[in-house]
Amino acid sequence: MSPVPLVVLVGPMGVGKSTVGRMLAERLGVGYRDTDDDIVAEQGREIAEIFVDEGEPAFRAIEKQAVRSALAGHEGVLALGGGAILDEDTRGLLAGLRVVYLSMDVEEAVKRTGLNAARPLLAVNPRKQWRELMEARRHLYESVASAVVATDGRTPEEVAQAALDAL
Ligand code: S3P
Repeated sequence: MSPVPLVVLVGPMGVGKSTVGRMLAERLGVGYRDTDDDIVAEQGREIAEIFVDEGEPAFRAIEKQAVRSALAGHEGVLALGGGAILDEDTRGLLAGLRVVYLSMDVEEAVKRTGLNAARPLLAVNPRKQWRELMEARRHLYESVASAVVATDGRTPEEVAQAALDAL
């Protein structure tokens, strides 16, 4: 049997999946893995470059494979890129796993990521784009989640503790 991740973290970019994921992994005494890092390592270029060079659909195809391999090859804490849940097959693969959705509201998202040019989906008018992105994705995050942890106004330590409590 393939290994199964102990905990999968989903949620929008900038919500703190990597910071909280690393803390959770340490507390649980397991490894941490992040599909964005896997993609950068495998492709030898940054995510933003893949978006610019090949476009979002090509990135999503690469991401789908990266998520598939990580889900089948990791027993610790696994963080998925914020858009990974757009793919229906990926959502199906998450069924039955312990999936924690780290949520935040739009204002918190703008505050945390507003001016971050490295995030290709937020290049112009971050508030409008965040609103659209959350509207399009919130129900998808919820549909795969076995627990939801709100991060608004909380430190990463508090979020990690809330996620542990929710497991
Ligand atoms: C994306 C989120 C990013 C990265 C890419 C697209 C998205 O991952 O995969 O920029 O569509 O929300 P993080 O959530 O790890 O920042």
